[in-house]
Amino acid sequence: MQGRFDGLGAQLFDQEVEARIKDEKQWLIDFTHVVYLSSAGIRSLIKYGKKIIGVGGKLILIGLNRDVKLVLETTGVLQLFGQAKEMSEALASINKEYSLDNAHSFNALNRECTWQSLAAQSCYLDIWNPLKSASLRNLTSAELMTASLEDLNMAWGIGGLGFDRVSAFEGLGSFIALEKMAGVLPADTYNQPDFMVVKDPREALMYVAAAAGFSGQPWGKLDLPPGRPVHVREIQNLIIAKLREKGQDAALLGLVVLGQIQPGSASYYHNYEDLINNRPLGRELAGPQTMMLFGLGADAGWKADEHLSIFLAQRGIKPGEEFFLGNVLLFTDLLDWNNIQMPGEVMKYCTDLELMQDVMMADENAALTEGRVWFFIPGQIRSGKEKQLQVEVKGDITFPEEWEIITRRLYTDACRVVLEPLTGGFSPGKPFRVSAYDHDNRRMLPTVLKLGPTSLIEQEIQNHQKYVHGYILNNSTTIMGQSTCGASTGMRYSFVGISGPDSNLSWLTNRFREKPVEELIPLFDKIFTRILKPWYGQPRWEMIKPYQEHNPLPLFPMIFDAAEKELGISAQAATIDCPELGLTLPNPYHFLKHEYPARQSVSQLWYTGINHGDLNMQNILLDEQDNVYIIDFSETRPRNIVSDFARLEPIFKFEMTRMGSEADLVSFLELEKALAQVNSLDEAPPFSYSGDDPTMKKAYQMICRIRKYAKTAVIFETDIIPYLLALLEWTLPIVVFINVTPFAKKAATYSAALMVDQIMRLSCRRSG
Ligand SMILES: Nc1ncnc2c1ncn2[C@@H]1O[C@H](COP(=O)(O)OP(=O)(O)O)[C@@H](O)[C@H]1O
Ligand SMILES: [Mg+2]
Repeated sequence: MQGRFDGLGAQLFDQEVEARIKDEKQWLIDFTHVVYLSSAGIRSLIKYGKKIIGVGGKLILIGLNRDVKLVLETTGVLQLFGQAKEMSEALASINKEYSLDNAHSFNALNRECTWQSLAAQSCYLDIWNPLKSASLRNLTSAELMTASLEDLNMAWGIGGLGFDRVSAFEGLGSFIALEKMAGVLPADTYNQPDFMVVKDPREALMYVAAAAGFSGQPWGKLDLPPGRPVHVREIQNLIIAKLREKGQDAALLGLVVLGQIQPGSASYYHNYEDLINNRPLGRELAGPQTMMLFGLGADAGWKADEHLSIFLAQRGIKPGEEFFLGNVLLFTDLLDWNNIQMPGEVMKYCTDLELMQDVMMADENAALTEGRVWFFIPGQIRSGKEKQLQVEVKGDITFPEEWEIITRRLYTDACRVVLEPLTGGFSPGKPFRVSAYDHDNRRMLPTVLKLGPTSLIEQEIQNHQKYVHGYILNNSTTIMGQSTCGASTGMRYSFVGISGPDSNLSWLTNRFREKPVEELIPLFDKIFTRILKPWYGQPRWEMIKPYQEHNPLPLFPMIFDAAEKELGISAQAATIDCPELGLTLPNPYHFLKHEYPARQSVSQLWYTGINHGDLNMQNILLDEQDNVYIIDFSETRPRNIVSDFARLEPIFKFEMTRMGSEADLVSFLELEKALAQVNSLDEAPPFSYSGDDPTMKKAYQMICRIRKYAKTAVIFETDIIPYLLALLEWTLPIVVFINVTPFAKKAATYSAALMVDQIMRLSCRRSG
């Protein structure tokens, strides 16, 4: 074909195809010179593609260019067709298939059977077997392997459904899984089957003790019309013999059968003892019944790898011995099953739970009167683990299985991910830098995965949607997915900076250390007066309860313990001595413990606006060109509008300065007295400092700047109390921090004491 495959092109195409479709089954269409594919073209392709496949034919598209391929991919029709880069490749694949002639009838097993090759390709045999021993006797719940229905695809064996391993273990029994459906017959003496049908097979988990499954397409299909009952073993032999005739060796053969099973063909494990000792009991069926059987069998002399050998040994099958085993799903009814062309189509009946009656086992003596048999040739045996996305976690950290499952769900576009813990925060959520590799082992764009308790991560996601999207636009992360498992949730988010994903990001903390104030001020101006202006620039005048809002205890419940342990200050004492200043000051921990609750309902009119809530300098990232990215929104919400500014002050004072000696502390307090005891937001505190720590001047200058931003946000207001309370919220917890010196903890305590003193003085003056 050549040119545009559009409305006109499609007409021409339809004519050509229509003229030949009766005789031809194998279609090769050369797309090398097709420059455009329109919806009309797609429609023709689907229409004839389906027709051709319906008669067991195949349509291979050759030389698709990137754009055409993308269109087919996004419309979801690409998988209908075969693909080849060039004609020779396509011909090779057709020839291979042609050697297995297509649908033809022949006499066997006292009836006229029909044989048809389908994919004519081998598949994977996945063995889901966490136990390495040849019996299940020592099985414990901890050993069950977690696999999603998506992982399992088409599998059967021993496993359970439940909310976790322990509950699944209690209901362990024979199971089958097919795409979005699973069924188990628990070996618990009650033997009541349990089924589930889910929307998203990634979200549904099965806990597996030992199972086998196929990934890939059936090689072909064998139809058995009604007739005398035939044993599965006979069917298997017939297929193996037929394949041999065609030069295809298949000592090991997988079967999926849909048909009528004979009474006397099924068995089950009555209780747990029977299950671990592999003692199935026969179960009579009332009459022939519609079923779907999943099984695996082999001729004598089969060769298996370690995974399969153990799986079979657990069922009492010795290496090289001929066998057949499988599980059956019994239906109460399944009317027109004859129209089902591929096993997965059974799913459309499975939405009705009433239709699924039971799950049992079947061995080689199982017999059927009629059926449609899809056969699979396992080209490779692999452990189910290999099929699942590999999650590698760097560093010495506990990584619960829930987190692993979440990771798998969020990275289905990858085949391997490497997680490196990121540091910088203190919240129970744990962020990781994720290097992912796609199915061609190409490195994907870097992403970040944050895992933690559901309430916390969900809050961050919600805040992101509410306060970040639409406000700070491309200066923050984009959420690419979220998933919950058990009590944990994970969010995957991007980080693609303006200078690309390879840019080296650095914390504002580092820039603060390296750069002089003259360079920091423009940077801070950019952050607070431009990037975050949509937050701070739209204040609302409303009632706030500052003591309630700025209570640090919910986030830092250990403050009192730490004050006692690190500084010997009990929250019981109303005052503390500050020999450095020669003063007795109010005890800030006492104030926190007794006055915060007492003043809980104190309210005042004040400005509120969206605030980040934890805008420390590790939540502001910069690239080489000083592009700014804001992250970490778990605490973001509308609150006292000066909160984010006040958040930074204690960092400048206690984390970015030296604070290495008593002398540092004494000279700091000199300055702090001026900073803490201002009377209004527009009062500029003097720089009264005689120490020799140059970072102190930097801190002072930056604090003045920050207070200016705060002043701007509150327009004509000047009340310093809401600012001091916001400051206290992050000054009081310093005693808990691990990254500050003991002198800084002491300094923070006196700083808090001076602020409390000021608050008491100002509020007293007001009420008086
Ligand atoms: N999208 C990202 N890109 C680059 N680094 C990030 C990203 N997200 C987080 N980090 C790094 O991980 C650290 C902690 O992540 P954060 O989301 O702030 O979690 P926490 O709640 O632990 O503070 C950050 O300070 C930063 O260094
Ligand atoms: Mg953080």
